[in-house]
Amino acid sequence: MEKILITGGAGYIGSHTAVALYEAGYQPIIIDDFSNSEKSALDGLKKITGKETPCYEGDCNDVILMDKIFTENQLSGVIHFAAFKAVGESTQLPIKYYKNNINSLLVLLETMEKHGVENLVFSSSCTVYGQPDQLPVKEITPRKDAESPYGNTKKICEDILSDQVKSKARLSAIALRYFNPIGAHASSHIGELPIGVPSNLVPFVTQTGAGIRKELTVFGNDYDTPDGTCVRDYIHVMDLAEAHVKAITYLKDKKSPFYDWFNVGTGKGNTVLEVIETFEKVSGKPLNYTVGPRRPGDVVKVWADTEKINHELGWTARFNLEDALRDSWNWQLNLSGNSSS
Ligand SMILES: NC(=O)c1ccc[n+]([C@@H]2O[C@H](COP(=O)([O-])OP(=O)(O)OC[C@H]3O[C@@H](n4cnc5c(N)ncnc54)[C@H](O)[C@@H]3O)[C@@H](O)[C@H]2O)c1
Repeated sequence: MEKILITGGAGYIGSHTAVALYEAGYQPIIIDDFSNSEKSALDGLKKITGKETPCYEGDCNDVILMDKIFTENQLSGVIHFAAFKAVGESTQLPIKYYKNNINSLLVLLETMEKHGVENLVFSSSCTVYGQPDQLPVKEITPRKDAESPYGNTKKICEDILSDQVKSKARLSAIALRYFNPIGAHASSHIGELPIGVPSNLVPFVTQTGAGIRKELTVFGNDYDTPDGTCVRDYIHVMDLAEAHVKAITYLKDKKSPFYDWFNVGTGKGNTVLEVIETFEKVSGKPLNYTVGPRRPGDVVKVWADTEKINHELGWTARFNLEDALRDSWNWQLNLSGNSSS
């Protein structure tokens, strides 16, 4: 089995990608420092796959540890998830974000070069588009100034990949620009584990549904959208996981140096109120919410043009909003120790 290193593999998207890699016949190897995840994710992964996934506990900024992993494993590629991702915190602690998110990529690229590993899939984000002038947003759309240090780290990392490839380094890289990942594995053994108060909509919705939060605040209902609330492209995390498998497989046939980037979304936008309504439908519960003022810095509407990834990687989202919210809710029930049926 070909080995793929997943940095940040115990996290939300990484753990689901490990499942998808097994399904496609790869052997995932994880490195995670558990700064934003729990070891229980590895137990969940084992319940789903029946396999113990090799995991190195540590920081991927650690040059010696990274060298050890590459020496002990003949890797055919790397998927780099490890990063800090809290937009709000990044505005308070920018150095923490620049240091971890950028340096970990630099250490990784040097280690890959040293060991002759060429294929890399990088976690980027639709945040690099800001509020696009045209929708749906295509990959050729110029990126805008980042709204936060977190967003800036994604832009800088994309630029590092591009510069490295321009230098004719032996690197074949794809940046996947995720839209809004939600949902969980259908088994409810793995899912999103937000630490503290969630800043993303769906974990806040499910926690409110479960009674952990008293009330959800919808930030503004007077935007220029069908019902006045913000629009996002919500993508099921298992669809997103499969996009990584397609990307790493696609790179095997690409001669280095190579760099390209793809949107990963459903191609459809949903408003906050549509998310709430759909959640109420799948959970059978009314959601306690109130409308508050707009939140500064929020993009009003964004959804993906998915033609490039559909055609070039042969990937299309299979799940819709209802599927994703049902899986998010079942995961929440599992966390809260209940069962949906
Ligand atoms: N979830 C989203 O909404 C979203 C959207 C766009 C892009 N992304 C990007 O996707 C990637 C994965 O996101 P996620 O939602 O799974 O986040 P997550 O926090 O659940 O997973 C990241 C994992 O990386 C680990 N990690 C962080 N820094 C590390 C380091 N230096 N060494 C080793 N491990 C480290 C954390 O412990 C965590 O397990 C991140 O790069 C994130 O910026 C996420």
